[in-house]
Amino acid sequence: LARGVREPDLAGRHVVVSAGGTREPLDPVRFLGNRSSGKQGYALARTAAARGARVTLVAANTHLADPAGVDIVRVGTAVQLREAVLKAAADADAVVMAAAVADFRPAEYAAGKIKKKDGQEPEPLVLVRNPDILAEISAERARAGQVIVGFAAETDDVLANGRTKLARKGCDLLVVNEVGERRTFGSEENEAVVLGADGSETPVPYGPKEALAETVWDLVAERLG
Ligand code: CTP
Ligand code: CA
Repeated sequence: LARGVREPDLAGRHVVVSAGGTREPLDPVRFLGNRSSGKQGYALARTAAARGARVTLVAANTHLADPAGVDIVRVGTAVQLREAVLKAAADADAVVMAAAVADFRPAEYAAGKIKKKDGQEPEPLVLVRNPDILAEISAERARAGQVIVGFAAETDDVLANGRTKLARKGCDLLVVNEVGERRTFGSEENEAVVLGADGSETPVPYGPKEALAETVWDLVAERLG
């Protein structure tokens, strides 16, 4: 193998990666959304394909170039993301939830544009919970031995919150990063710790999102055996 070319250690494997951020519509012109660019998920999809995997990328509202050799399923809302991930996960060896999924959506969708009324304050916005996709696929496991990875951005007590979240979600690995000024959203770089359900802790130094992606696949490949 040439220098810098990875062993195709994911050959014959099907992996599913979710990327981007969901948008929850309020009316035909407005939505509740988040700042996720999808870059980390795309880096995961690219690197898995380079390591020989068949890759399904479930992309929520991303504006990035399509990675070569990857099947892309485009979605908008959390409910659509759930459908697409569950479908693709049915025969997957690994699922990585890098997408930022909105925790809540508007309880009601207004079929027409919401208008101001003269001299009136706006109605409060009523929200309902979205399904927790990561917790669901971790609890149900479409296949024995399927490896499931979550992502979490935390601002405080990063490791302690990460451990609690890993246990709550029931996934095998949780990539935890600290959100700060220059970090994470839209940036090319990332710094993280990957926590394992087996108690392992793998620090990933500040660097390109591709490097974090390679570490995630190293840990997944180890668990697939
Ligand atoms: N996630 C998911 N479905 C949701 C929310 C989150 O699958 N409805 C996944 C994300 O894709 C991510 C992981 O869960 O991989 C952690 O997301 P995070 O927002 O940190 O977790 P929450 O349980 O929503 O906790 P918090 O209250 O801190 O937002
Ligand atoms: Ca959340």
